[in-house]
Amino acid sequence: MQLACSKCAIRDWSPADEADLVRHADNRNIWRNLTHMFPHPYTAADAHQWFATLAAMPEPTHWAIEVDGHAVGGIGVSIGEGVFSKKADFGYWLGEPYWGRGIMTDAASAVAPYAMERFGLCRLEAAVFAWNPASMRVLERCGFVREGISRAGVFKDGQIIDEIDYALVDCGRLTSASSRLTHTLG
Ligand SMILES: CC(C)(COP(=O)(O)OP(=O)(O)OC[C@H]1O[C@@H](n2cnc3c(N)ncnc32)[C@H](O)[C@@H]1OP(=O)(O)O)[C@@H](O)C(=O)NCCC(=O)NCCS
Repeated sequence: MQLACSKCAIRDWSPADEADLVRHADNRNIWRNLTHMFPHPYTAADAHQWFATLAAMPEPTHWAIEVDGHAVGGIGVSIGEGVFSKKADFGYWLGEPYWGRGIMTDAASAVAPYAMERFGLCRLEAAVFAWNPASMRVLERCGFVREGISRAGVFKDGQIIDEIDYALVDCGRLTSASSRLTHTLG
């Protein structure tokens, strides 16, 4: 997979990214805003585990954000199962030296529609910790709507905090596909 954005490129992770991944991911300020799935400290063993996880997928649903030829962050979707198969959790992180340059707004606004189209999704969800206004701004600029607050929904870094729930919904493509199917069958 390869998506060209104006400030970065989105592409598949490669084991050759190990040093860049560990360099940028091993950061408490990133860990603090992500779920328990994201380790801290972030070691070479964690990078190996990550590449193995991606290699085991039929098709990767998480990608590297590349700037100046280096992987400096990650973005992707975790697709639901069963009745949740048309929605996914949307997540991302960026190496701290690159914050505040509009890179994630650029990346997320390209990846969100790509992932919805590629995996036949009609809903992307993003849960943001209350102390993370930069991520809320990224989502809002990408068209996500703030749907509510899970009060005291998160225990992170020794604190109980609210989780702010965002979603991007686009069922038009699926609805028209199913109408076409109904029409064909009819
Ligand atoms: C959140 C994160 C992805 C943002 O990436 P980024 O490339 O710096 O974001 P951008 O530069 O595209 O946009 C950030 C926006 O937030 C705004 N912002 C930054 N700090 C802010 C603050 N304290 N309060 C309000 N807005 C803030 C910026 O002004 C910018 O908005 P603008 O474009 O309207 O000016 C990055 O900080 C990160 O990786 N954080 C750690 C991991 C994380 O939080 N992941 C998301 C979990 S939900």
